[in-house]
Amino acid sequence: MQDFKGRVAVVTGGGSGLGRAMALTFANQGMHIAIADVDVAAADAVAAEIRAKGVKATTANVDVTDRAQMGAFADRVFAELGSCDVLCNNAGVATFKPVQNYEDRDWDWVVGVDLIGVIYGLQAFLPRMIAAKRGGHIVNTSSIAGQVPLGNITSYHTAKYAVVGLSDSLGIDLAGENIGCSVLCPGLVKTRIAQSGRNRPDRFGGPEPTAAAVNAGIEATGYDPMHVAELVLRAVQQNQPYILTHPEYRPQVEARFDRIFAAYDWAERK
Ligand SMILES: NC(=O)c1ccc[n+]([C@@H]2O[C@H](COP(=O)([O-])OP(=O)(O)OC[C@H]3O[C@@H](n4cnc5c(N)ncnc54)[C@H](O)[C@@H]3O)[C@@H](O)[C@H]2O)c1
Repeated sequence: MQDFKGRVAVVTGGGSGLGRAMALTFANQGMHIAIADVDVAAADAVAAEIRAKGVKATTANVDVTDRAQMGAFADRVFAELGSCDVLCNNAGVATFKPVQNYEDRDWDWVVGVDLIGVIYGLQAFLPRMIAAKRGGHIVNTSSIAGQVPLGNITSYHTAKYAVVGLSDSLGIDLAGENIGCSVLCPGLVKTRIAQSGRNRPDRFGGPEPTAAAVNAGIEATGYDPMHVAELVLRAVQQNQPYILTHPEYRPQVEARFDRIFAAYDWAERK
């Protein structure tokens, strides 16, 4: 996708962090922006930043785990802004503990937001994107945790690996539709992800405290979200399927593929 001016980007979880950065970056290209977030006050603050750039911005108090809310959000976006040209299925959360200590709602919340939320985003927007025949692009936010195992975030890994698989498959299925697809797989980025529990809805167990050690790691080594968003923009322009932002994880990705190839060698041994 090359022409951005006057077109529309939709960003879930756009009230903070990477979603905010993508929303601002697409607005810098002259796009109008629609943000869905459970923290609508945060989304409204980002919308004010966006309008100051001279483009339109709309927000909605939407929980991506609710299919009906996502459908109603899509109705509003098409009514108010006329299209969806770049869809960023970005909202995500994490809970940090060993899987043996999980409660049912830990699974429900993390897989609900990080995987089912992406699926509901596609269901709400993709049919109308295809019908509009304007082309476009889908950016699904996974994580480096969708490429390599890191531990203590099994529900997150489960969802993020699935988002990589979903995106790979989407790229194949959409090949004839002029709609590109990229999956974003960052390492640590300076956002509020370690404070995801701040917005954990009551039906998923209610708010939980900040993961202090993760937060400290993010503060110490996290990338600037605007840098990551610039790579997202380039991936959309060049239809790059994988957005692997943190080269320091490359040895771990290679080691994982080495383990997979070693398994072929193992199977071939008598
Ligand atoms: N920050 C990192 O280090 C990092 C690394 C890899 C991937 N990611 C991914 O980036 C994405 C964005 O997270 P972030 O790091 O910017 O965190 P963040 O907490 O700063 O922003 C996430 C936003 O999503 C919103 N949100 C949470 N649950 C929601 C729901 N059910 N419906 C709608 N909105 C919801 C939050 O209110 C918040 O505004 C996530 O998918 C996350 O998994 C982050």
